[in-house]
Amino acid sequence: MEQAVDPRAFSERLVAQRERLHASPAELLERVEASGYGPRSKEILREHVRAESTGQVGFALFGCPPAIVRGEGALVWDADGKEYVDLLAGFSVSNLGHCHPAVTAAVSGQAGRLLHYFDLPGEQRERLAARLAALAPGDRRRRVVFGTTGADAAELAIRLARWYTGAPIILSGYGGYHGTTGATMATTAKGGMWAFHYPVLPADSGHAKIPYSYPYRCPVGAPPEHCAEACLEFTRRLLLGKESPFTEHRAGVSNVAAVLLEPMQASAGYIIPGDGYLRGMRELCDEFGFLLIDDEIQAGMGRTGRMWACDHEQVSPDLMLVSKGLASGLPVSAVIADDEIAASWGPGAHVGTFAATALACAAANATLDVYEAEGLVGRAAETGDYFADQLRALQERHPILGWVDARGLFLGLEFVRDRTTKEPAAEEAGWMLDFCVREGLLFEKGGYFYNRFQLIPSLVIDKELVDRAVGILDRAMTMAEARSGIAAQGAS
Ligand SMILES: Cc1ncc(COP(=O)(O)O)c(C=O)c1O
Repeated sequence: MEQAVDPRAFSERLVAQRERLHASPAELLERVEASGYGPRSKEILREHVRAESTGQVGFALFGCPPAIVRGEGALVWDADGKEYVDLLAGFSVSNLGHCHPAVTAAVSGQAGRLLHYFDLPGEQRERLAARLAALAPGDRRRRVVFGTTGADAAELAIRLARWYTGAPIILSGYGGYHGTTGATMATTAKGGMWAFHYPVLPADSGHAKIPYSYPYRCPVGAPPEHCAEACLEFTRRLLLGKESPFTEHRAGVSNVAAVLLEPMQASAGYIIPGDGYLRGMRELCDEFGFLLIDDEIQAGMGRTGRMWACDHEQVSPDLMLVSKGLASGLPVSAVIADDEIAASWGPGAHVGTFAATALACAAANATLDVYEAEGLVGRAAETGDYFADQLRALQERHPILGWVDARGLFLGLEFVRDRTTKEPAAEEAGWMLDFCVREGLLFEKGGYFYNRFQLIPSLVIDKELVDRAVGILDRAMTMAEARSGIAAQGAS
């Protein structure tokens, strides 16, 4: 029976929800005053609260965010000169470390020559396009579509996949993050953010969700070692329902354009899917005639110890998204697509005033030069192994550390109150983050239950700084276990 909607009840619910999600400027100022930061930082933070929207991200990531004013390598300093080991790297942007001399030199050289000339051809831009096309995995010929931000690239890829296939639907994984613009929000499965799009639904009829392998808490209930195949099997069943056009492969009636996935989920908490998940998705796409869009915006550019995270599964996507670390901090993004797909558009199909500026492309070319000259991808693999060993040693001593995800310098830690029940240690994770920031260690906390640490160092971090970071994490875990009485229950 159809239920009549009571508009008053609806708007009361809306008001209540807005109140719950809201943090007033006065509350944010209280956090600033109660923080342990020095006077110069507090002045910047007060100005931040006075002049910016209450929706900015710093107060979501931290109780009170730091005011970083300087960076060098894998270290940053706040406005009062306090030093931090940087395990955030501007969210996987400063992969070369902050202010790499080769990048700053290229930026100042280009700044004196040409900053920007609309979305038109240029020497730096064409050099970058050719390099990106050659860097993509597999031996297919590729073309590049430039954008400005990560979300921009995701939108361009969705639009291109729909145009090329003539099919509207995009399948994306639960927990995925591909941007927060109107057109990408449906693919970014983070409840906390969807709520802020209320009352406009973040999903539309052009999107559907599929399970993403998360071995520690498999979304379809399989044990960790079978999570990947169980998620793949679940997706197959979803596609092969009784009335499905995919049953018996009745080709030509597919309404799915593409599967859009992160090869490893970053904003969901640095989660590495079970072995075979991405490869299985590639096979599934081939079988059903879908394109595979691989979002390497955060996991790519060497972070996982290979140039692209999909290289770990020998997967060659049809379209690949790159941004963040590409230009070491200047905004640029790219879709690297199969020749035939990217050559299906007519002139003027896409345009952006700030897409691939001369300045950003000069920074990107200098960044790629450093990758080559300093063997950064191999270095990330080696330092990552060392970091992972230290983290696993912590896990042996600390029952609160339930799970370690580690591939190169893509490192995720999951905290639990009890290893058997896996009860999330969310409050403890908050205490530990506050402790670490006070001790001079910066990183992000995330995860479905806000109980995961995402460790995202620049790829140039050395073992000494890794040791310093591990020492602080060790003390943080000891503190949290003592405060919650977790050690008394013992590790399983
Ligand atoms: C995997 C992934 N895709 C897309 C985006 C969106 O990038 P941007 O914030 O530049 O729009 C992000 C941002 O964190 C990301 O991690």
